[in-house]
Amino acid sequence: MPDTLIRNGTVVTARETIAADVLIEGERIREVRPSIPAQAAGNVIDATGLYVLPGGIDAHTHLDMPFGGTTSADDFETGTRAAAFGGTTSIVDFAIQARATRMREALDAWWRKAEGRACIDYGLHMIVTDLGKAGLEDMDDMVREGVASFKLFMAYPNVLMVDDATIFKALSQTARNGALICMHAENGSVIDVIIARALAEGKTAPIYHALTRPPRAEAEAVHRAIAMAEIAGAPVYIVHLSSEDALNEVRQARDRGVPAFAETCPQYLLLSIEELERPNFEGAKYVFTPPLRSKDHLPKLWDGLKHDHLQVVSTDHCPFCFADQKTLGKDDFTKIPNGGPGIENRLQLIYHHGVNAGKLSLNRFVELTSTTPARLFGMYPRKGEIAPGSDADLVLWDPNAVHTISAKTHHMRVDYSMFEGFQVKGDARTVLSRGEVIVDSGRFTGKPGRGNYLKRAARGGAWK
Ligand code: URP
Ligand code: ZN
Ligand code: ZN
Repeated sequence: MPDTLIRNGTVVTARETIAADVLIEGERIREVRPSIPAQAAGNVIDATGLYVLPGGIDAHTHLDMPFGGTTSADDFETGTRAAAFGGTTSIVDFAIQARATRMREALDAWWRKAEGRACIDYGLHMIVTDLGKAGLEDMDDMVREGVASFKLFMAYPNVLMVDDATIFKALSQTARNGALICMHAENGSVIDVIIARALAEGKTAPIYHALTRPPRAEAEAVHRAIAMAEIAGAPVYIVHLSSEDALNEVRQARDRGVPAFAETCPQYLLLSIEELERPNFEGAKYVFTPPLRSKDHLPKLWDGLKHDHLQVVSTDHCPFCFADQKTLGKDDFTKIPNGGPGIENRLQLIYHHGVNAGKLSLNRFVELTSTTPARLFGMYPRKGEIAPGSDADLVLWDPNAVHTISAKTHHMRVDYSMFEGFQVKGDARTVLSRGEVIVDSGRFTGKPGRGNYLKRAARGGAWK
């Protein structure tokens, strides 16, 4: 007998919204149709008044990541548990290749970080810092291991940045092996000159993090990244896009038929540069890269989501505690570890400010937060879909639940929230991962270590 039946809910996918029941057998969905009899399964969950959504997929997280002389505050256990509370059932995190080492070492290291800890399924992108002699071979090796995407940095000279030749070689390799390059697009060389000038003038406060990284530096890098991808005949995915200037570059390329994709994050949709001017160094809580922009960029990004100039909302979850990590940069903004927390609040924020506010349809909400990341990152239709054969990663979403976001109640291991006091309507009530209830009415019922590594498929060139 199948294990679980979800009855009387409204099933919402990227395509449709229908009254239907969902029958789960083992870890997968067996049937989706109206009026499945209650006797069909041993365990029946009543979803009256709830939406049944495919589990959220956060394609951009940094758990247990060394950065700026410290390590991000959430590890794979605390970070994935917090994700589950918010209705996210899969993440794709980033392994980092150290310079002059092979990518397999990084993959092994990140598998060790996740093993025994991950509460939900996780994939890995590989951050490429050095192609060296065997880098292109290593990329193919990674694709065989299910690492179907690579991140390259056009920013952070001498740390993570790679030159255009490296970018072009990597893009060309993905044109052959079907993986996807994720680009951190900011002109790091120009930004470093602006930073040096600011520091020489004694400008050390958090706000200068934003003022030294102008939107044009992002737009220029996006333009260059897309041009290099076109020459290489490869698709490209711009991560954490923050500005109208950068968005225009993606839109223009897509209008020409170029397979350019981009994500943005809740912080760029809901917060603006003024946050970095908070007194008592609290602006440091909002130091991440690219930085927050002026308010006029925000509606443009929402518009981009609606019209498919932007395809994905992820979080870039990279938490550092205010008390003892952000303060590393008390006297110099360049020493503030870059990153902010958000893995738990993505669905709440995008549902409330997108769907409730009339900016996004319910189906577009699902597409942006689950289905498209599954497609672009080689997990579809196993993830991001509610259909027979798909993993039973499901969120029973209560559209009437009201919640106030706060560090006092969140589950992320970080001492502040970027969205403190934000009231949202719409929240995950019950969350299933591969058929198992892992969150129920505010209680975690899963186990650390139950999350599986997601071996993702390369797309092999079918990008349109
Ligand atoms: O400030 C950020 N975004 N930190 C995480 C690393 C990155 O560039 O994504
Ligand atoms: Zn980045
Ligand atoms: Zn990131």
